[in-house]
Amino acid sequence: MTAKEIRQSFKDYFESKNHKIVPSAPMVIKDDPTLMFTNAGMNQFKDIILGNVPIQYPRVADSQKCLRVSGKHNDLEEVGHDTYHHTMFEMLGNWSFGDYFKAEAIAWAWEYLTEVLKLDKGRFYVTVFEGSEKEGLMRDDEAAAIWEKFVPKDRILNGNKKDNFWEMGDTGPCGPCSEIHIDLRSDEERAAIDGKTLVNKDNPLVIEIWNNVFMQYNRKADGTLEPLPNKVIDTGMGFERLCMAVQGKKSNYDTDVFTPIIKEIEKITGYEYTV
Ligand code: GLY
Repeated sequence: MTAKEIRQSFKDYFESKNHKIVPSAPMVIKDDPTLMFTNAGMNQFKDIILGNVPIQYPRVADSQKCLRVSGKHNDLEEVGHDTYHHTMFEMLGNWSFGDYFKAEAIAWAWEYLTEVLKLDKGRFYVTVFEGSEKEGLMRDDEAAAIWEKFVPKDRILNGNKKDNFWEMGDTGPCGPCSEIHIDLRSDEERAAIDGKTLVNKDNPLVIEIWNNVFMQYNRKADGTLEPLPNKVIDTGMGFERLCMAVQGKKSNYDTDVFTPIIKEIEKITGYEYTV
């Protein structure tokens, strides 16, 4: 599949699950003093999530252009050093505002990756929030139990607050999350080192591709968590990483998201692109 077909298949899949497909919001944020640039698909829905404006569509999906160059989610230092971080990237996402919750979000994420895109089930690892005493939050046993329907227990890993409690910024909507990681290494490498030991360890071929956030709180300026008026599903999938997985590449830059641009630059400059 081309990148264009992959993007479309995501929208088609969630449209078939009764989601309203909406356009990407602008990357420069105009009406939120807590954020300069769009850093996640959920930004444009912040007021709906907080209950400040009515819910128009309880199910929404899109492909959002994001920029992570400042604040809580800043990937500036990674770009140019690895094959899978970008400052500007596209995030595929689906949302439920007070409608479906963990069971459907997890089942659909799994179905889309393994039945629609036909990615190898044996290459996936998932994480769930291990809980935090400091925040008074328990382990996300509910998400773990749902995942057990799809993946072997030993591929469901606990993750800490840094990786498995997603927050938009210093303040704003947040909640425990469940990440889906894929192991793109060769069979020999996978046989030699168990992929689960490489999850969230900066291996360029064992990477997170999709984050499912179960938003239930608003982080206030004093650091406390207040419950949201509705439970919200907020997912974010790295489009360029997904293209790498589907197209069997070892770098985001080798997918057709980037190769036409790189070829054009080669033509204009007369220099050959080498890694
Ligand atoms: N809001 C979900 C994410 O950015 O991972």
